[in-house]
Amino acid sequence: MNTRLTTEEIVRTFVEYYEDRGHRRVTGSTLLPPPGDPVLFTTSGMHPLTPYLEGRPHPLGRRLVNVQRCLRTTDLDEVGDTTHLTVFEMLGSWSLGDYEGPQSLDWGYGLLTDGFGIDPRLLHVTVFGGDEQTGPDTDSLDLWQDRGVPVELTTEDNWWSNGPTGPCGPDSEIFLWTGDGPPRSTPTGDDRWVEIWNHVMMRHRRLDDGSLVPLPQRNVDTGLGLERLSSLLQGRRSVFECDVFDPWRRLLPPLWRLDEPSLRLVGDHLRSSVVVIGDGVRPSNTGQGYVLRRLVRRLLTVLWRDDSSRTLGDLPDELVRHTLDRFRQRLDPGVVREVLLDEERRFVRLLERGRQVLSRPRFRGPDRLSEEDLHYLHDTHGLPRDLVLGLRPR
Ligand code: SER
Repeated sequence: MNTRLTTEEIVRTFVEYYEDRGHRRVTGSTLLPPPGDPVLFTTSGMHPLTPYLEGRPHPLGRRLVNVQRCLRTTDLDEVGDTTHLTVFEMLGSWSLGDYEGPQSLDWGYGLLTDGFGIDPRLLHVTVFGGDEQTGPDTDSLDLWQDRGVPVELTTEDNWWSNGPTGPCGPDSEIFLWTGDGPPRSTPTGDDRWVEIWNHVMMRHRRLDDGSLVPLPQRNVDTGLGLERLSSLLQGRRSVFECDVFDPWRRLLPPLWRLDEPSLRLVGDHLRSSVVVIGDGVRPSNTGQGYVLRRLVRRLLTVLWRDDSSRTLGDLPDELVRHTLDRFRQRLDPGVVREVLLDEERRFVRLLERGRQVLSRPRFRGPDRLSEEDLHYLHDTHGLPRDLVLGLRPR
């Protein structure tokens, strides 16, 4: 597949397609959920819409479309592969108690094949096959069989929830074949099937005791990762090669020589840090600030593996500005750089202290550090476990 569509054009095509079908565009929220929300960051397009999925009338009506920035730390260890990003944008459409799942899937299929020009023979879907609490999703199965798209039935992979309790439901995921030859196997059998779009039939609420009750209305919530779709439509091998990352790929390699996985990690974590800072978070030892701190420290650890003189002071302004613009954030790029540099200095001081403490006879022997040592280093010297193990692997 090789389309000339830029990420901006993909967004416009998506939004207009749904507007033509009676949806109103909601302005995306920041990465920070409202106070009282148990989750640190907005993790999906539906997240800010939770009260409306639970029955509160939305001021813009029952059909919505949106582009929402999201942050997922659950995928942090997978960043560096070809499909995961920490901060990403999610395109979404919603039926708040209006049309049902098959309509949503049918429109989705139309947009992918007619709107974006995807060859339908490269699609595979998964559908909820039922468990002891809920029956199989036969409506979705019928729709896909009518359209001639191959279906795989699964249980756990086709149940979506945002946590152990709250709104949830069976989903149908659409996968695109990314292998060189003709499609083979099924989405759970071959990871060259890449998930591009999830349609969730959000009609249940899970209670504390694990039981399910119906939500006041039957919703459909769909989410599609923008950078992943862009890279696939643009015929690129990884999310880091879609046009959104063009300036990163142009400016980072001459600055820091890195192998491809490290380049991806550094690019992802830097871009994510800029967005998080742009939404008002500052590094700290708890909550959102701690996530930011971990992002910066992880990327510095990778940068310094080959050359400890590398500094975020060399980060080109263009990359900060490009990211703030992409996410429509108004912060002065100078402030972002200052926050990053300040955190870098703090990390340098901590590493120096860590090296000094670890050179003491108590820690120098061939034995592995005990749990007690790790607690002591943390509580007495403020040295986090990850950092100690980075300096003195077990
Ligand atoms: N909530 C679903 C997801 O995040 C669809 O938006 O995948």
